[in-house]
This record gives sequence, structure tokens and C-alpha cells, in this order.
Amino acid sequence: MGLTTQNISVQKVSKSRISEVDFNNLTFGQEFSDHMLVCDYKNGKWELPKIVPFQNISLSPASKIFHYGQSVFEGMKAYKDKNDKILLFRPLENHKRINISSERLAIPAFPENYFMEGLEALLKLDKDWIPTADGSSLYIRPFVFATGNGFHASPSDEYKFIIATSPSGAYFAGEVRVLIEEKYSRSANGGVGFAKAGGNYAGQFYPTQLAKEKGYQQVIWTDDNTHEYIEEAGAMNIFIRIGDTLITGPTSDRILDGITRKSLIEIAKDQGINVEVRKIKVGELIEASKNGSLKELFGAGTAAVISPISGFGYRGQDFDLPKLTDSFAARLKKQITDIQYNRIEDKYGWRHTVKE
Ligand code: PLP
Ligand code: COI
Repeated sequence: MGLTTQNISVQKVSKSRISEVDFNNLTFGQEFSDHMLVCDYKNGKWELPKIVPFQNISLSPASKIFHYGQSVFEGMKAYKDKNDKILLFRPLENHKRINISSERLAIPAFPENYFMEGLEALLKLDKDWIPTADGSSLYIRPFVFATGNGFHASPSDEYKFIIATSPSGAYFAGEVRVLIEEKYSRSANGGVGFAKAGGNYAGQFYPTQLAKEKGYQQVIWTDDNTHEYIEEAGAMNIFIRIGDTLITGPTSDRILDGITRKSLIEIAKDQGINVEVRKIKVGELIEASKNGSLKELFGAGTAAVISPISGFGYRGQDFDLPKLTDSFAARLKKQITDIQYNRIEDKYGWRHTVKE
């Protein structure tokens, strides 16, 4: 029999923790729902996924995750509409991408039916954890990591795949200012920048910490070779509006192929916005800022949704973005969130309703 939401084994919590959570004051990724999905890879195959109470896991100090960082993750969200239907946004894209990331780190692919059936069963069980306050959602974190033991620097023979969920509010608490980075690099040609590998984020923490000390929330990475071209931010793809043209860089093996990014490109074109997908030089951004044609800069990602950037720093100088009343960012955010929360028709077929 194939896997269905009916035959995934479920061990429920004896007492829910939900009453301990203040759903009207949620931050990002700090509260965890009652249950999680766990699936082990042993003897060359994935075992059946199980749903268990959210809990600690016990690993040997020799587990390869600790030594060689074989770990990738995804970021998704579940929404609830006014009729209490559970909704996802393009979930198969996340499944595809976790396997693209896994392949690059020599982690075995995770089956699509385990991912989708397991996720749907988990969401149905923890449905009450999906927040409904404006701007909040249930953040979903699928991840997979090496659990096999040994100090030999080679791929693990055992892995654990987990989906944990977190009722969350906005990713950024206040305004977002970014620093254009020229010394450190996030990724390089032939590297792992296109993968959602845990180590990609670890490598960003130190430069981002330095940027934070100077008053910026995120770093905008430039290409590792010349540092002349804008690539992406720590957790978001970048969009730039010059005049009435919206520009975003092409994806490459240094840049994450963001699901929000590709959705916004389609929505913007359909709204009649002139969209250019092309490389953009830092010099062009500075020039546009100086001559007044730079109208908007914003980041796009699952966690961050669309986050307008209020200013950026470059070579010790600060540049401010104008404050617009009718911005592309606001128009695009309205349309993508209206699709996600089932407030408008979804002509793209991106919204996925979890079957009851
Ligand atoms: N770029 C990076 C480095 C990210 O971590 C993310 C977040 O997932 C994104 C871009 C945006 O991707 P998506 O829209 O698929 O969430
Ligand atoms: C997401 O947007 O879902 C991400 O995975 C970014 C993460 C670093 C919070």
C-alpha cells in the first residue's frame, strides 16, 4: 500500500502546549508546535515517516552532521483562510528544491509522497497552531542531516529528515537597512550557494554581525569574483526599481532560486510592470540613487515575504530610498499574500489546499 495520510503512524502529545503561546504577539521561529514529522534513512532507504511529539533528539558525538555539516533545509508557510481551510504555497517547489540541495551535499533524495503526505498529516494534526492574525502564519521547516557516525570525511550512510513547524509573525521587526558587502563572499562559482545548505548561513553570520554593529540588518552580497554585481541578501532575493522598471538578478550556482522571486516576476509582468532579469552593477544602483531614479529596493523570500529596504550602505556612505505611497513592493505583496491567504482567485494554480 502506498503512503497516505491515514497510514502514517502518529504518536500524539498527552497535553498540548498551545495555551502557553501568545498568538497575538508572535515573533519569528521561536515557538514550536506540538508535533513533528520524522523519517530515518537506513540501509539504503527511507523508512516510513512518523509523527511524534516535538522533542529533543539524541545523537552520537561522532555523527557526521557535527563534523562535516551535511545538512540542508527548506522554508515554507501554512496559512488558514476565513473558512478554516489549510493552505500552502507551491509546496512541490520546496520538495524539488530540497532534493536539489541534497544532491549537491551527497544526501539521498526524499520521496515526494512522503514529503507531501507527511506534511499534510502534520498540518491537519496541528491545525490549531496555524495563526490567523494579520501577517502571521505557520512557518514550516523541513530539514535533513547526517546521523551516521565516524570521523572519516565522507558522506554519512544514515540521515534524519524532520519537518518542524513554528507559529510566526514578521521576520524583520522594524525597518531594513542593508550593507553592500565587498570583502566577504557568501558563495562562489561551482560552490553550494544555490543550495539551502546550513553551512551557507553559518558563513554569513560573522560578516552580518559586523554589519549589524554598524546599524544594518542584512548584508547584500556581491559576486565573489569582482564584487561589482549585486547578488542576494542573507535570506532574500533582491529586487530593484529604477524609474518604472523592476530589475532582479538572474539565478546562478551562487544564488538561491527563490520561489517568492519567481512568483513575483510573473505577478509583476501580469500587473503590467516592466521586469528585467539581468545582472545589475552596484555602480548602477549608486548612480540611480544619485540621479533620483532609484525608487525602490526590496527583498523577497518565504520568511521575509516582501521586505522594503529603507536604505543601504556602501563604502562608508549611506543612501536612503524615497518613501513611496504606492510602491511596487506594496502592490506585489498584496497580490501574493491575497493568493496565499485565499483572498483572491489564483489563476496561477500556486495555492495548494490541504485535503480534510
Ligand atoms: N535567498 C536565500 C539565501 C534564502 O535563504 C531565501 C529563503 O528561503 C531566499 C533567497 C528566498 O527563497 P524563497 O522565496 O524560496 O523562500
Ligand atoms: C525562508 O525564507 O524560509 C528561509 O529559509 C530563510 C531563513 C534563513 C529564515
